[in-house]
Amino acid sequence: MALSAAIILAAGEGTRMCSSKPKVLHEFAGKTFLQRVMASVGQLEPETLAVVVHYQADRVSEAARSYDANVDIVNQDDIPGTGRAVQCAMAQLTQERNLHGSVLIAASDMPLLDSVTLKKLVAFHEQSGDGATVLTTILDNPTGYGRIIRDRDGHVLRIVEQKDANRSELAVQEVNTSVYVFDADLLAEAIANLDNHNAQGEFYLTDALETAKTRGTVGAFAAPDPLSVEGVNDRLQLAALSKAHNRRVCEHWMLNGVTILDPDTTWIEDDVELAQDVTVLPGSFLKGHTVIGQNAVVGPYTTLIDAIVDAEAVVERSRVQGSHIGRAANIGPWTYMRPGNELGEETKAGAFVEMKKAHIGNGTKVPHLSYVGDAELGEHTNIGGGTITANYDGVHKNRTHIGSNVHVGAGNLFVAPVEVGDSVTTGAGSVIRHAVPDDSMVYSENTQHIVEGWKPAWER
Ligand code: UD1
Ligand code: CA
Repeated sequence: MALSAAIILAAGEGTRMCSSKPKVLHEFAGKTFLQRVMASVGQLEPETLAVVVHYQADRVSEAARSYDANVDIVNQDDIPGTGRAVQCAMAQLTQERNLHGSVLIAASDMPLLDSVTLKKLVAFHEQSGDGATVLTTILDNPTGYGRIIRDRDGHVLRIVEQKDANRSELAVQEVNTSVYVFDADLLAEAIANLDNHNAQGEFYLTDALETAKTRGTVGAFAAPDPLSVEGVNDRLQLAALSKAHNRRVCEHWMLNGVTILDPDTTWIEDDVELAQDVTVLPGSFLKGHTVIGQNAVVGPYTTLIDAIVDAEAVVERSRVQGSHIGRAANIGPWTYMRPGNELGEETKAGAFVEMKKAHIGNGTKVPHLSYVGDAELGEHTNIGGGTITANYDGVHKNRTHIGSNVHVGAGNLFVAPVEVGDSVTTGAGSVIRHAVPDDSMVYSENTQHIVEGWKPAWER
């Protein structure tokens, strides 16, 4: 199975999204539509992977290049239609080199298009010997899609768009998914004479099948999984497909030993990894490359983005991004972890704690209302409530080092850069500006003044 080229259509505006952003750059489960389709198509290793752009061309091509640096960008001209998109692509690709064998074409508004379906389609096409094969699916509600019209013997005759269809055609439930495999030579011929005599005044790629039919045979391959080929045209479809996909992801994890109390309010992206006996409580979002270890409990109302949470840890009502939470750590409620934190085993952060680029040693606790940023804390240290590391002098971010077995009193202020040794005790309300040696006690003055008999102005 060798694909000479794959052409991804991404030139449309996606008017029905009512967005300032091109449709293909909308996100589905954490990745853009275009990223997802390019990844699936890329797995078939076509000799050339082309993406056709036009609407906000710079933005779309920049995104395409960021997903695959070797992508071939085709600029569609001002003439609209999926057929025009392929005409522009073929003009460019055949100029660059000789196309031979199979060419895959796919729309980019199908976020769940997967490489397994695509491989089956290509294999079916190559075995059938047909000149063109369209990927179809059967839908309970085919509204909006092009309908597959077959003759009495079941051969594909043509595809009729919703807006051009008569009543009996509208009743057909088998639809065009906008994924095709063509023999390269046949494709070049089939798109040569398209016209725009239709309800939308566009050059339809679907019309190429009628020409293809006069030169060879056209086959149809039904996608085994209708979800995998569902197109998204508006935000209602985006929500519905996201929900259906998320349900499947949750079911996969539940069948693999994860307790998800409420899959309706738990959102898990595709690259997340969950160990056995993890519990995910309602209102949780597990995003990016998040990895959660055995028996950990996440949620309720927790967002994890690219977070590593080790076994036995608890993360409750918090947001953790780009951070590593050690075994049996206790995070939250209401802890905000910005990227770069490294927390050891049996540590604690929260309630109401913010951390950034903090390295926290085993057994160290930051229990209440603190900000710890750009800091190194040793092991078995305890940070008093309301303590702040003043890490920013207006120009530079500076680090605070606090040793092991340190008892920081409530309401301390560490003015970085500053270093505190091991086994230190600090007084409540201290402002620590200078190095503190091991095995010492430190406190800073803040004189208490009493004004006797004082009354507020309104009482005087
Ligand atoms: C298209 C098909 C329809 C099919 C449906 C499946 C045609 C004429 N119709 O309709 O049979 O059932 O997809 O979802 O092909 N695009 C371009 N250049 C353009 C116009 C569109 O590259 O000038 C791209 C879009 O970015 C999109 C894809 O082609 O990725 C499909 O365009 P869209 O407008 O969504 O087509 P549909 O009306 O859904
Ligand atoms: Ca579409």
